[in-house]
Formats: sequence, structure tokens, C-alpha cells
Amino acid sequence: MPATCVVGLQWGDEAKGKIVDLLTKQNDYVIRYNGGANAGHTIVRGGQTFKLSLLPTGVLEPRVTSVIGNGVVVYPPRFLEEVGNLRQAGVSVGANLLVSHHAHVIFPYHLEEERLQEGAAAESAIGTTGRGIGPCYQDKVGRLRGVRVGELLQPALLRERLHRIVPYKNRLLRSLSDDARTFDAEALFQEYAAYGEQMRAHVCDTSEILLNGLAQGKNLLFEAAQGSLLDVDHGTYPYVTSSNSSVAGVWSGSGVPARYLSRVIGIVKAYTTRVGGGPFPTELHDEMGERIRQAGREFGTVTGRPRRCGWLDTVALRYTAALNGVDEIALMLLDVLSVADQISLAVAYECEGQRLERFPADAAQLARCRPIYETLPGWRCDITQVRRFADLPRAARDYVEQVARRVGVPIRLVSVGPDREQTILVSPS
Ligand code: IMP
Repeated sequence: MPATCVVGLQWGDEAKGKIVDLLTKQNDYVIRYNGGANAGHTIVRGGQTFKLSLLPTGVLEPRVTSVIGNGVVVYPPRFLEEVGNLRQAGVSVGANLLVSHHAHVIFPYHLEEERLQEGAAAESAIGTTGRGIGPCYQDKVGRLRGVRVGELLQPALLRERLHRIVPYKNRLLRSLSDDARTFDAEALFQEYAAYGEQMRAHVCDTSEILLNGLAQGKNLLFEAAQGSLLDVDHGTYPYVTSSNSSVAGVWSGSGVPARYLSRVIGIVKAYTTRVGGGPFPTELHDEMGERIRQAGREFGTVTGRPRRCGWLDTVALRYTAALNGVDEIALMLLDVLSVADQISLAVAYECEGQRLERFPADAAQLARCRPIYETLPGWRCDITQVRRFADLPRAARDYVEQVARRVGVPIRLVSVGPDREQTILVSPS
């Protein structure tokens, strides 16, 4: 089993961190391959809560090497802050944390660019996390103004690059708003060169290290950030993030060839949430939505925004399960649905008078779809202490089995709370 990928099958926040944490011990490397500090991973261990945005979840396990792959966009102050917080909490972080020299760097002008562009977009705003993710990826793909982590370690080159890039960025920012914040190239150079020095021990060619690891029979665990419906190519474009958050990002974002991936675990919340703009057919605008939000503490880890909540959508899940080649599903936060007397499960859509079984990832068409629900009885009792599938209330078991049947992928794990122990392994029947 050389490489496993843990990937979200919805719009992010599926509690991937808990599953990565559970699997970390069986692996030698844990790799983030996409996104940046827009992700929010909460891991609860023995009553201690760790919140990570940029660092791989594996960093909590010093025996394992944690890798920030080339596909990630790195905001150095955030990197250093998370490392500092972990050390303060007694977690050892040193040679076990590596950052690709090819990962791109987020600068404060990226944050300002995003703030002004999102502000100007008003109604059609994507509702981004404001972490500079989109503008940094734009510069990466545009090639003229992207700066890689490896360049932070080459002061002469970095100075020259920033003295060329920053005047352009200042002109761009002023064109977006008269009140735009602008930047001093030399001051940014000094600041980022200092970050580079502090990060130096972690920066290397991570692709080479991972390939060597594979050659030595080591096990790799890829940790996706965001969910597959936010994938820039396969998600509900343009209401997506700027990276490949599906399994498609693994090879481009880590340098590990596709052929090594042998297991894909799809992470699914027992209901659906979405943060930011974009269509969401099963969204609940009523008291039930609010009940789920409160019970699931559905407020963004990164931004604190209330998440939009709704019923589980098996049309979307069939699409993302196929897209990722998912072998098995981990169904998370089942305990939250204990607040519902009855549970609805979207099994198809109605769109312009037609029944639709296929998910239209095209946002405009998706916005015209209405869910067709199947209704199942709720269980209305606390299931957070249950540890065996057979001990779940009948209605909860029926719900899990129905989801697996509708999606066409076995559910091998059910989570009934944030702690590691609150996990039920489901044996194949
Ligand atoms: P960006 O990634 O900050 O550019 O935001 C683009 C879209 O992805 C917005 O709708 C965000 O709310 C959403 N998004 C980004 N990261 C996450 C995440 O970790 N969880 C859920 N949604 C996210």
C-alpha cells in the first residue's frame, strides 16, 4: 500500500484532519499537495485541540515526515506561527517538517489584491477566505511574478525579483482602488529574506525525497485540503478554490507519479456544508439548518464565518466518488444528525422538468437544480459513546447503509465525535 490519499468529497470541512491523524501512524510521510492557509484542520487528541491551516496534520507525529508539496502556496508568517504554536504545545518540529523549494510564496500584496477584487465583485464574489490563495496561484501560472520558496534563500535574486514585481503590484492595486494599500519593495525583501532564513532548515526538493522514500518501500499519505467540489477544474467553477483539491492534484502538487496511489479514502460529512458563494441544492434555510449548524459547530476554522448547512447530496457524492476513484468512504459527524426527527437524502435532481441523476458541475445549471429527496427516520438519541456499528440505533445504521448504497461505495468508518476514540470501524458485510 505505497500511497493513500484522504480527499474531501464535498465543499470542504469534511473533518479530513481526524482521518489523516488516525492513519498517520501507518505511514512514513504525510503530504499536503494543494491549497495553503485557507484550509482549517482541527485535530482533537486526548482532550488537546490543535488547529492547523498550513502544516500537514502529520506534523503532530514527530516520527513521521510531514511535507508541504510544490502544489501548496505558503504564507511564511503563518508557517512560522504554526510551527511556534506547536513547539509551545510541546510538539517537536524540526527535520520532520519539509517544504518544497518549488512551492509558491504568498506576499501581503496577494492578500490586498484579493481583498479589493472580492470587495468589487459584490454579488458575484466567490466568498474566499482572504488568505491570498487565488492571486498567488494566478502569479504562479502567469510565470512573470511568481516567487518560489527556494528563492527566499537566495537574497540577491529575491531582492531583484521583488524590486521588479512590487512596483507592478502597486500600480495594479491603485488601479483597483484609490484606498489600496501599497508596498515597499526593499522592506518586503528584508522581511521575506528573514523568513527564508528561519525556514531554511525545512526547505528542500521534496519530490526527490518522496520518490526515494517510495523506492525504499516507505508509505505515503496524501492529505487534500478543501473538498473536490471546490476543485478548480472539476468543482462548481467559478465558485471554487484555485487548486486541484481532488485527487487530481496529487501528482502535480507533489511530484509523485499517479501510478503509486493505491488507496483513496473519500471523506464525507453526514450532511453538507459550504462556505462562501455558489450553488448548493440541498441547502436548508430553515430552523433545521440552524440546528445542524449549532450541533455541528459549523463555523469556519479559518474565517469564523457561519457555514451554510443542508442535507446530504448523493448526486454530488456519486460524481466526486467517481472523479477521485474512491475505494471507501469515511462518514463523519454522524452524531450531529441526532438533532433531526427525520432526515432527507438527495437522490436525484429536478432540473427544468427533467429528472437528473448526474451532477452538473456547471454552476449555472446546478443553480437551477432542485433536490429530489428520500426521507428516512431520525434516531434522536446521543450516539457519541457508541463504538460498534451494531450498537448504533437501527435508524442510524439504515441511514449509513442507504448512503453507501446510493453512492455505490462502501462506508468503512463512521465518526461520532471529534476525538480519536469516537470512531466506529465498519466491517464489510
Ligand atoms: P479561497 O480558497 O480562499 O480562494 O476560497 C475559494 C472558495 O473556497 C470559497 O468559497 C471558500 O469559502 C472555499 N474554501 C477555501 N478553503 C476552504 C476550506 O478549507 N473549507 C471550506 N471551504 C473552503
